[in-house]
Amino acid sequence: MSKDDTHLTQSLPPTILTIFGATGDLSADYLIPALLHMDEHKLLPKTFKLVCVGRRELTAKSYLDFILKKSHVVKKLSPSKKARFLKHLTYYAGDFEHVEHFTELAKILADADKPKHVCYNRLFYFATSPQQFAAITKILKSAGLLTACAAHERKTRILVEKPFGFNLKSAQSLNQLLLRYFTEDQIYRIDHYVGKETIQNLMVVRFANSLFEPLWNNRFIDHIEISVLEKDGAGGRINFYNQTGAIKDFLQNHIVQMLALIAMEEPYNLTAEFIRNEKLKVLQALEPFTTEKLSSRLIKGQYRGYKNEAASSAAGAGENGTETFFALKTYINLPRWSGVPVYLRTGKRLNKKLTEISIHFREPVRCLFEGCAANVLTFQIQPDESVHLQINNKIPGFGVRLHHGDLEFGYNRAFSGEIPGAYERLLLDFMEGDQRLFIRSDEIEASWRFVDSITENPTFRSLPLYEYRPGSSGPKEADEWMRKDAKDWWTN
Ligand code: BG6
Repeated sequence: MSKDDTHLTQSLPPTILTIFGATGDLSADYLIPALLHMDEHKLLPKTFKLVCVGRRELTAKSYLDFILKKSHVVKKLSPSKKARFLKHLTYYAGDFEHVEHFTELAKILADADKPKHVCYNRLFYFATSPQQFAAITKILKSAGLLTACAAHERKTRILVEKPFGFNLKSAQSLNQLLLRYFTEDQIYRIDHYVGKETIQNLMVVRFANSLFEPLWNNRFIDHIEISVLEKDGAGGRINFYNQTGAIKDFLQNHIVQMLALIAMEEPYNLTAEFIRNEKLKVLQALEPFTTEKLSSRLIKGQYRGYKNEAASSAAGAGENGTETFFALKTYINLPRWSGVPVYLRTGKRLNKKLTEISIHFREPVRCLFEGCAANVLTFQIQPDESVHLQINNKIPGFGVRLHHGDLEFGYNRAFSGEIPGAYERLLLDFMEGDQRLFIRSDEIEASWRFVDSITENPTFRSLPLYEYRPGSSGPKEADEWMRKDAKDWWTN
């Protein structure tokens, strides 16, 4: 983080951020840690208030203690940091099913404006399950929380967490609901992967270097791979995960968003509209699955022990076909990408946590030497944020033997200081009113249309579910399936 960042946020208008669902895991592990860190580094607006809303009866102080106990990220705070954060914080208890619980909240927000006759921008973070979005929107409307400020025009924005619906139909009704009360420029649909520093670097590497763009097409690229490997299992979120599975949890959002940034055309400029227009074209061009393609282009897996985890939780025992792993092949039906297979894969309880995008260039048409390897450009998104290019070099000595070496750029090696967390970046953009890293309604719907072609197909549930050992690299069937295409996973 640089001094410029501090400068920028300190000049933001007075802001009051209300988090609905403030006692949940997301708040404990991501939102409050991000806000604490921003507070410490003076990245919050100069005049800033935070209202945390949950069902439990708590005070601001006991809320913060509750979060510190619950959080896996921040466990301790020095008394001075705690005192500073508490200055911003109000806790409010209410049940979303009861609009009348929220009249006092309206008063808290209105009172913020009074003392100095300032008009706070009102930002609302929906950190709850999507089933509660309708109730919260109703609360905002009927408690008068969306009204304008007498003195100036205030900005009211909402930030909506994923999952944004469970299929195309539910996502469309969610969009319709939100668009009844808000305009598209007030709605911030989050995908925290897009906020990761290394994902933002994708556009920079592609469009700021003249080296890659001429080669970025089906003449030079053989295939694309995106692998998101996770070490953890479904854990405390098993009830949610059991209803979604890996495809809805990861493909619909994080993975297709990364793919869109890799495959899109250069936007005319860097405004949210132009960037999102280009991403949308890729999402709309993803080749839908047919029943026939489902059996040949998709592998589903489940880690051993998942059923027991589910059985001992509220998700319950019984038939459990939830996939905790998938690998699939698809195509992008655009002239630039015609015929280039795209391999996408994610899984839980694997041997490591690693997110990588690799672009596999074609091998030289004729290799003069023995042992030429294809060039591969790899973006390691996490944990070691870096970019790699595999090239052939000569091994020193007599004769000509090739070495497949790595040109590497590592964030941690090139820069000192911390890389900003995705939630900090996105919260800042939300406060600033910058929608570039947020997802537009049509992008969401296009990606659900693609995912629905898999998960809403009746055949989907009857496809084999291959078991894999926790701590392995996934089901062996996924490796064998890849070998049928004469390929190995790059990321293993
Ligand atoms: C969430 C998914 O969106 O992202 C989780 O619902 C997943 O299943 C998580 O574990 C991964 O995020 P990150 O930033 O740790 O890679």
